[in-house]
Amino acid sequence: TPPTPSLCGVPLKYISLVTLAVQNSLLTIIMHYSRVSIPPSQSYSAPTAVLFNELLKGSISLVIAFTQIDRSTSYTSDTPQLSLITGRFWNPAKVLPRVRRLGREVFSPDCWKLSIPAILYVIQNNLQYVAATNLEAATFQVSYQMKILTTAAFSVLLLRKQLSANQWLALFFLAIGVGIVQIQTGASDTAKAASSLLFQGTSMNALKGFLAVVAACFTSGLAGVYFEMVLKNSQTDLWIRNVQLSAFSVLPALVPIVLTRPSESGIIYSLFQNFGAWAWATVAIQVIGGLVTAMVIKYSDNILKGFATSLSIVISFLASVALFDFQITFTFVLGSVVVLIATWLYNQPGRSSSTSRLGYSVV
Ligand code: C5P
Repeated sequence: TPPTPSLCGVPLKYISLVTLAVQNSLLTIIMHYSRVSIPPSQSYSAPTAVLFNELLKGSISLVIAFTQIDRSTSYTSDTPQLSLITGRFWNPAKVLPRVRRLGREVFSPDCWKLSIPAILYVIQNNLQYVAATNLEAATFQVSYQMKILTTAAFSVLLLRKQLSANQWLALFFLAIGVGIVQIQTGASDTAKAASSLLFQGTSMNALKGFLAVVAACFTSGLAGVYFEMVLKNSQTDLWIRNVQLSAFSVLPALVPIVLTRPSESGIIYSLFQNFGAWAWATVAIQVIGGLVTAMVIKYSDNILKGFATSLSIVISFLASVALFDFQITFTFVLGSVVVLIATWLYNQPGRSSSTSRLGYSVV
């Protein structure tokens, strides 16, 4: 087994999990703010944001894949980093074979497998905007944690992942913990204060928002597990897989844009209409989220990813206390502690899922 990659001695697995938790909190707050703080007539197009997310993420993954392509070829004695500095990397005689090889890997015969998670993620990313527009930020975040259960169900069904008794217990506690936090979110004025800080310009439809969350939880579980299955069933590099995923996302991401009736000023104008700093901030945080999510799926697994994002509930609330003078209630602390204990329990050694990696069924 290759050594676990690390940064300054800390395993990438943990760095990516913590980054994902922080990213999730930021995204929930900024996406909600960017949608509800302005009147609908001035809001930006969510499908445009989803498209830009894919284009940016795909381009970044392509650059990373290109710089790493040397790892498995030995026509230079330099490390990839050194060859970047010495200029060997940019030597035209070496660049062309590298581009050819990258092309071969991206357009490999099995690349079509990524079309399934690509379509599911595009649907999910659009639904996320519907949910964030129609629910309080805190309610959205907590309800979205149901994806942990859908992910576990799909992991067992599709990956034939075997969970230990401890892990089932951890999932059970997680559901209880999230439920307790939700009681407090629904009952207290705290959550309402969360969004009143963003002077509301848009009316919300809770049922529409909740249905969008439920649907997004299903696509999240299925797409995540499918991506993990494709990734871990082949030797293909993570960044090549990400390029394939983004490439297959572009077409479905264009569908809602084409179907939306453009304003009289034309389709390009309506694409960029009101696409200001908040919209770009949302896209940027989503791009980071996508890249980190891919790393989390590679270096740990989808179920653990769910636990990391459930920790983001705690981070969001603590940020709200610091920034917006929120009151922490007993139920919130209780729910958060249960979530933390569940996370710890899921991570205990001796579990069976980490040893079942090689046992994935072939896609
Ligand atoms: O909520 P969930 O963890 O399912 O969200 C995953 C997000 O990460 C989606 O927005 C999806 O587009 C993105 N993603 C990605 N690349 C991957 C896996 C997920 O950009 N390889």
